[in-house]
Amino acid sequence: MTVPLGLPSRLPPDSLGRPLRDLRISVTDRCNFRCVYCMPKEVFGRDYAFLPKNEILTFEEIARVARVAVAHGVEKIRLTGGEPLLRRGIEELVAALAELRTSEGRPVDVALTTNGSALAVKARALKDAGLSRVSVSLDSLDPERFAAMNDVDFPVAKVLRGIDTAREAGLDPVKVNMVVKRGTNDADVLPMARHFKGTGVIVRFIEFMDVGSTNGWRMDEVLPSAEVVARIDAELPLEPAAPSYRGETAARWRYRDGGGEIGVISSVTAAFCRTCTRARLSTDGKLFTCLFAERGQDLRAVLRDPSRTDADLAATLGGIWAAREDRYSELRATLKDRRAGRIEMSYIGG
Ligand code: GTP
Ligand code: 5AD
Ligand code: SF4
Ligand code: SF4
Repeated sequence: MTVPLGLPSRLPPDSLGRPLRDLRISVTDRCNFRCVYCMPKEVFGRDYAFLPKNEILTFEEIARVARVAVAHGVEKIRLTGGEPLLRRGIEELVAALAELRTSEGRPVDVALTTNGSALAVKARALKDAGLSRVSVSLDSLDPERFAAMNDVDFPVAKVLRGIDTAREAGLDPVKVNMVVKRGTNDADVLPMARHFKGTGVIVRFIEFMDVGSTNGWRMDEVLPSAEVVARIDAELPLEPAAPSYRGETAARWRYRDGGGEIGVISSVTAAFCRTCTRARLSTDGKLFTCLFAERGQDLRAVLRDPSRTDADLAATLGGIWAAREDRYSELRATLKDRRAGRIEMSYIGG
């Protein structure tokens, strides 16, 4: 794509001076898991109305948004869901995105966040299509606890096999995301660190967040990252490491004996909004400027209006970004009434 004449190749920063660098794209609102902190069964049951097909962006529509965003400064694209590997033909979308080049001619980092259930089958095809790397959600190595957290009895051994296949396929580095809930799976922190130490897999421990409005979040179920680090450090000594890019969600810690690294994602106890360069595109084409937003702005109407050009799309994107002032995690502690109508993570993408 050529940058439309008269438009800058980078969008102006948002109202807090943050550029748009990352686009997280949710390709489906469905998932084969029912993680208790994300899609509790009581809410996402048999009768839950997922999006109908005509409301879901096609691959062509997604690729068009991505192309325009990349032409205007986006350098990293992450496919999310729901569970992105449930979207049929996802490799075709990966292939289209992997062809994009930044305005400086660099390839775009195309990553994917998955629950790992289909990785053993799909990792190779995803790599061949041009995917750079994957992050796999895994909350426990204990078969019973894992089954209880995903709430569909999915076997942990199958996810571990998926992680191995991803590594063998060269989806490098494989990261493992573990959401830590005090009293539920915090006993798994140390076993998880031990299991992946020395393998090249980077485990990131995530503070349980008050995302969405159905997961019954309580502050006393958050295990602060400082405690995660202290518990691991007591047995496997750690030292801090510098961020690998500006605005990284995780704070990095290295094993002192050279056994690799871990990360902690501390949206609750150490907000990272100041460097947040992320926009999220929902399955039905709304652009959200914060994970905790209550509403998104409709890009689908622009995409489906034949009279609107790529330049119009870029202008819409620019307008939304310029007006952005989100910093929910920073404000969380001072908000008296936490927002009630926050959208669900399975719809907007993590
Ligand atoms: P890398 O590109 O490998 O650094 O991945 P990432 O951390 O950007 O993405 P990933 O999907 O692996 O996210 C890990 C966790 O961080 C998930 O639980 C996300 O919901 C959380 N997270 C990602 N971005 C944000 C954000 O902008 N705000 C908050 N509060 N949490 C985020
Ligand atoms: N708090 C923290 N992380 C969450 N995730 C989903 N819901 C929550 C929550 N309430 C994580 C998933 C996955 C990533 C996309 O977001 O486990 O790793
Ligand atoms: Fe599915 Fe991921 Fe949500 Fe679990 S956290 S229910 S795997 S989308
Ligand atoms: Fe970005 Fe919103 Fe997360 Fe802050 S809370 S880091 S602004 S997505």
